[in-house]
Amino acid sequence: MTDKFVAAIDQGTTSSRCIIFNQDGAIVAVDQREHRQIFPKPGWVEHDATEIWSKVQAVVAGAIAKAGLRADQLSALGITNQRETTVLWDRATGKPVHNAIVWQDTRTAALCNQLGGSDGQDRFREQTGLPLASYFSGPKAAWLLDNVPGLRARAERGEIAFGTIDSWLIWNLTGGTDGGHHVTDVTNAGRTMLMNLETLQWDSSILSAMSVPEAVLPEIRSSSEVYGTAVGQLAGVPVASALGDQQAAVFGQACYDVGTAKNTYGTGSFLLLNTGNRPVPSKNGLLTTMGYKIGSEAPVYCLEGAIAITGALVQWFRDQLGIIRTADEIEPLAASVEDNGGAYIVPAFSGLFAPYWRSDARGVITGLTRYVTKAHLARAVLEATSWQTREVVDAMYQDSGVEITTLKVDGGMTKNNLLMQHQADVLDVPVIRPKVSETTCLGAAYAAGLATGVWNDLDELKAHWAKDAEWTPGMTADVRDREYHNWRKAVEKSFGWLD
Ligand code: G3P
Repeated sequence: MTDKFVAAIDQGTTSSRCIIFNQDGAIVAVDQREHRQIFPKPGWVEHDATEIWSKVQAVVAGAIAKAGLRADQLSALGITNQRETTVLWDRATGKPVHNAIVWQDTRTAALCNQLGGSDGQDRFREQTGLPLASYFSGPKAAWLLDNVPGLRARAERGEIAFGTIDSWLIWNLTGGTDGGHHVTDVTNAGRTMLMNLETLQWDSSILSAMSVPEAVLPEIRSSSEVYGTAVGQLAGVPVASALGDQQAAVFGQACYDVGTAKNTYGTGSFLLLNTGNRPVPSKNGLLTTMGYKIGSEAPVYCLEGAIAITGALVQWFRDQLGIIRTADEIEPLAASVEDNGGAYIVPAFSGLFAPYWRSDARGVITGLTRYVTKAHLARAVLEATSWQTREVVDAMYQDSGVEITTLKVDGGMTKNNLLMQHQADVLDVPVIRPKVSETTCLGAAYAAGLATGVWNDLDELKAHWAKDAEWTPGMTADVRDREYHNWRKAVEKSFGWLD
């Protein structure tokens, strides 16, 4: 046991967690709390940012208590967060002016279409690496400025602050109305659709196209540096990293070399490939996005395949269909049959993200005969995750020429052996899970520890990475090709359900 400790806060879509790590990168204590999901209308998803802040304070207190530490024994605090979720708050009172609009919320679809105009979805792709889609924060901020009475005028007078969740937390942690720092990091700023990928600054032409006043925006900083010192329960602890959760997982999985990749299986799945110090444009439906930036070092970019629904399909199978009672029951049910019995499920519940970006797609189940049982459907549920990942991996190869030779995985679904085996089979590459599967928090802790001298360099961090499990491919090429062909046919049937 070493005597330096780093805390990381992971503020996610459904819960907030605080994990304390020791200097070996091992977990000392974890605390976690869920927050409310607010669905005011179909397609709308909101969070109460004040509730999130109080849950974060509670998990920090919980983790410190479980670790048996005092706050002054923490060398640094790192932040990682659900990306794109948008908060606007009053600088004078510290109160949010509206619920946060969550990344999954589709209310800005029409605004995005309108912004695209005759250039379509790719109007800002060159500057931002992103297609115009309701997923990103800039249009969410514009929507709030237009729909909360009087807000635009107040924003123009400099009274209102915009932030993704990292900014909201750092501002509160470092003092809030009493001198809080209004900053964000490049990985979060890069998901607003307002940051230029080359300059790493706000892009004034996009700000004016989206009518977002510069006065609301935080300062863009690196992902690993001391932004300020915490007050309150963490008084004196340097707040020393911020990364979007998927980028934090890249960092925690030690994907520091060009060509290394990780896939995180949560509500959705997010596969990021390190492409080095230059942004690689995508022609195949991927996002060009920031990987991380350590202090004054050159930024690292990634290609990202964002899949909206993977673990959420298991939840749907459990909650909406009631075929299983707990998520864990899906594996034995699926394993009770040899194959999918000819059934395929495409979970296009909110359209399809990568590589299609089709808002007109809706979920389909194909290949049904009387032979198909709930066990075959359970298999089809799991296989939907691995086939969507296969499509993203193919797009990565087409865009970058980099062939993924092993896939590092993390997230809740990686404890499902059947799924991980199928993933290895359909990619025809080994799939590897690390010992510390809490890679998101680990990445934020690493970045904070690098900024404060807990760790010296990336080689030291890389040496911590250790394998826990590996699945080797075992499917014949004939079966793989046939199944992939069938999957693609099913995907085509999901298109065109909305005008
Ligand atoms: O882009 C959305 C992603 O950051 C959400 O991640 O793990 O909170 O569902 P998660």
